[in-house]
Amino acid sequence: MGQNTVQLEFDSEQTIIINKHIYGHFAEHLGRCIYDGFYVGESNTTIPHTKGVRNDVVDALKKLQIPNLRWPGGCFADTYHWKDGIGKKESRPTIVNNWWGGVTEDNSFGTHDFLDMCELLATEPYLAGNVGSGEVQELADWVQYVNFSGKGPMSDLRKLNGREDPWNVKYWGVGNEAWGCGGNMTPEYYSDIYRKYSTFMADWDNSGGLYRIASGASGDDYHWTETLMKKIPSSLMKGVALHHYAVIDWSKKGPSIDFTEEQYFKTMKSAWFMNELIEKHSAIMDKYDPKGKIDLVVDEWGGWYEVEVGTNPGFLYQQNTMRDAMIAGMTLNIFNNHARRVKMANLAQTINVLQAVILTEGEKMLLTPTYHVMEMYKVHQDATLIPLKLISEDFTFMDERIPAVSASASQNVDGTTHISLVNIDPKSPKKISVDMGEIKAKTVGGRILSAKKLRDYNSFQEPEKISPRRFTAATLTNGKIEVEIPPFSVVVLHLN
Ligand code: AHR
Repeated sequence: MGQNTVQLEFDSEQTIIINKHIYGHFAEHLGRCIYDGFYVGESNTTIPHTKGVRNDVVDALKKLQIPNLRWPGGCFADTYHWKDGIGKKESRPTIVNNWWGGVTEDNSFGTHDFLDMCELLATEPYLAGNVGSGEVQELADWVQYVNFSGKGPMSDLRKLNGREDPWNVKYWGVGNEAWGCGGNMTPEYYSDIYRKYSTFMADWDNSGGLYRIASGASGDDYHWTETLMKKIPSSLMKGVALHHYAVIDWSKKGPSIDFTEEQYFKTMKSAWFMNELIEKHSAIMDKYDPKGKIDLVVDEWGGWYEVEVGTNPGFLYQQNTMRDAMIAGMTLNIFNNHARRVKMANLAQTINVLQAVILTEGEKMLLTPTYHVMEMYKVHQDATLIPLKLISEDFTFMDERIPAVSASASQNVDGTTHISLVNIDPKSPKKISVDMGEIKAKTVGGRILSAKKLRDYNSFQEPEKISPRRFTAATLTNGKIEVEIPPFSVVVLHLN
């Protein structure tokens, strides 16, 4: 076995906070994410709920401390007309979900339902506005409806619908994937459209101003980011989005459970590509915004495979194995290490869709390995980043290679240091030496997420097959940690 080293390089003169919003989630009207996921309706259900939202889901997400939740899409956002989702439920018009399975929705889950649910979850809403098929006035009206406390046509309508106080929503997406399902626009055209829409999205009572997020690049479309940075002033744009999924090949995505060795490697390679994407998009942003006024918002990420056999192909329902835990652990390490520019991110998607943290089946609910990684990593939320230098052995397949080990570290306000380590190598354990540098600690403990097999997952028959356990195998002597991490496992060390 080779040797892997981590050198912590804390510099108290230049501190960076890992913004908790990096740990955000995403709930689209897609498959069984909203309907039959979060929302089971207020009648005709035996599932315990609060105003139609499952109580078990709320409890589980509260444990994750989810900082923000993006809604209603995705591609759906640019077809969504918010006024169809307010008022008496029985009078709401239907909408056909054109992008996702062609199903007809009754709009019973609308603005009030979502924003009240965010209050239940103690999370900040992130609303994605309709730019593709909506009008400027429609989006401007939505902002007034949810954010204005005074007297106005939309704020009065909100009050009439039973909500006196505004919700004060800060995070607003101005369209989604404008280069694709959001309108197939060029970046030049979208930049102009963006300037117009965002101008009419008034700040209202929001004291710090709205946090407007531009629909960003797909993967390595650097021209997209460059054009937006060149053409849109920072007074109108707080965030530029980026979407990247860990996918093998869009035309042959492979199964979620019975993947081959090659498919595993390719998924890891695609997930690791996030590191390069963030570095290159950040370099462009640095050129136009050296002071860092505009943030990079990775508002869609995660693994994407073929749907489970027998499920609606438009519903994107997939199982979640230790491969997904590897994607999550590695990606969150990447985000933490780039916390200077990456201030927000959203895993796609929360329930029953893509790399979900929760799966439901009737009354049953389970937590996926990805949920557990998110829960183990929540210690990094709003903690001070400890930059590090990492030397890792390679994980190879045929003649391709990527680093086997990834790591990130932070210190929270009570002085506890956390180091998250991931070994994606499916076959060999990794010995890692961590030099703590300036960081002082006397004790080391931790938690581990591992499984017998890489393809293991939590099923409704065995919902707790994979869950975190105490990890006691690390030693700390004279500022050096020595640890051995099993194959395909995630460890979070706690140092005091
Ligand atoms: O997350 C699923 C879809 O992926 C979203 O609707 C879209 O924005 C992206 O292409």
